[in-house]
Amino acid sequence: MKKQITVTVNGTRHQVEVPHRLLLVDLLRDELKLTGTHQACTFEGVCGACTVLLNKEAIKSCMILAVQVDGQDITTVEGLASDGELHPLQQAFKEHHGLQCGFCTSGMLMNATEFLQKNPDPTEQEIRSALIGNICRCTGYQNIVIAIKAAAKQLRTQTD
Ligand code: FES
Ligand code: FES
Repeated sequence: MKKQITVTVNGTRHQVEVPHRLLLVDLLRDELKLTGTHQACTFEGVCGACTVLLNKEAIKSCMILAVQVDGQDITTVEGLASDGELHPLQQAFKEHHGLQCGFCTSGMLMNATEFLQKNPDPTEQEIRSALIGNICRCTGYQNIVIAIKAAAKQLRTQTD
């Protein structure tokens, strides 16, 4: 059984017909070809690689059905950069070596995007707590934390 839904992804409105049981992560990756959103834990909701923003709130896109986002606004990692400029978080991950294989990175970036909107001047401990739902098997997290701290500083400068 299928249902027609309308969803805005990275500012573009899409009308798609989806099976009732299609997951949002599969809509993004398979139907809309936005493969920056990853999936790593076979839909157990523990790794965070599939994190996107739903109406500016970070959610795990393997834990929600596509039909549940009908009429809603989604941002994926492809929507972070603007006018050919990396988002400050992307730039900071690049400068501070906040990634190795990169598989967790889009989820980290999307989670951190929401986190810094709510907490623009976080402590290291607050950053580590915010990352609890995002698993990285490569980096040991240290450079990710450094990158998020640097991005926070940059973002505060932009809003001053
Ligand atoms: S694929 Fe969604 S949390 Fe792991
Ligand atoms: S950089 Fe490889 S899983 Fe995080």
